[in-house]
Amino acid sequence: LLQEIEAANPANAEAIEQFRLRFLGSNNVIKPLMGEIRNVPNEQKKEFGQLINKAKEQAEAKFDALKAVAEAAAEKSQAAGLDITAPGEPIDLGSRHPVAVTLNRIVRIFERLGFVVAEEREIEDDWHNFSAMNTPADHPARDMQDTYYLRNSTEMLLRTHTSSVQARVMTSQKPPIRIIAPGRVYRNETISARSHCQFHQVEGLYIDKGVSFADMKQTLYYFAREMYGPNTKIRLRPSFFPFTEPSAEMDVSCFICNSKGCRVCKYSGWVEILGCGMVDPQVLINCGIDPEEYSGFAFGMGIERQAMMLYTITDIRLLFENDVRFLKQFSSVI
Ligand code: PHE
Repeated sequence: LLQEIEAANPANAEAIEQFRLRFLGSNNVIKPLMGEIRNVPNEQKKEFGQLINKAKEQAEAKFDALKAVAEAAAEKSQAAGLDITAPGEPIDLGSRHPVAVTLNRIVRIFERLGFVVAEEREIEDDWHNFSAMNTPADHPARDMQDTYYLRNSTEMLLRTHTSSVQARVMTSQKPPIRIIAPGRVYRNETISARSHCQFHQVEGLYIDKGVSFADMKQTLYYFAREMYGPNTKIRLRPSFFPFTEPSAEMDVSCFICNSKGCRVCKYSGWVEILGCGMVDPQVLINCGIDPEEYSGFAFGMGIERQAMMLYTITDIRLLFENDVRFLKQFSSVI
């Protein structure tokens, strides 16, 4: 017993308490030895009693020493601004950004139709962003997308649309091609509640033998219903893009719902969400695909406007400021 007390070396508060209970507590192991004293021969009684007392004293001394050491350590860490007994700080978990949530939803829908994600660079050359897409240098359509060029360069730029990915894919893959290309794009626009100099698009491209305008319409109709509900209607309006012919813009019928019910949004009840059209034969030729053999459709849509519609956000700038008070409101959205 004496040896055990001597050797004991409890390392933490818990172990020290175990030591106290074993040797000094109300049910300690020394106590019963007192009773044993009557079984000890008379001539040894004195020695036995002394041994018990020694054990008791040793245990007490050891406990006091242990306590002192532990307290000193606690004081030291407190002085260093560290309270080792304080409960841990909860870890702040992040959540998905509403633009990412919206983008993922769009991508999932097209993946179900067999579209494969193609991701490409944000710093592009003039050819992939413009020339290949049938927008030569003097083309007035370049004014539609005010471009950021890299310093000292007339060749390298920040892509103004994800249509650059069309050129990247068509020059590196053989038809059939069925891709969607999500990503960030940049335009030199004045920042306001409605527009920003950076935003996100999802591009779609489908090229095969005998692809028709009807295929495009059905694909986009399916998308609109998956995204905005089974009663959603679509409306195609004639439009112009240098890289598609014919071209159209698509509106979806739109309702805004809250706890009080739903109402038709905006004035007309329609919201434009994308541009689309049949891939211009010149674009196919530019990218080495024979327009006699293949045809295809393409579409491009902005993400921010759709995110704003889904979550009734009225200022696009909120999506880029990343104020946690704003972002935390989406912590339950996946
Ligand atoms: N690139 C066009 C834009 O940024 C959208 C578009 C993509 C239109 C593909 C037609 C086909 O507005």
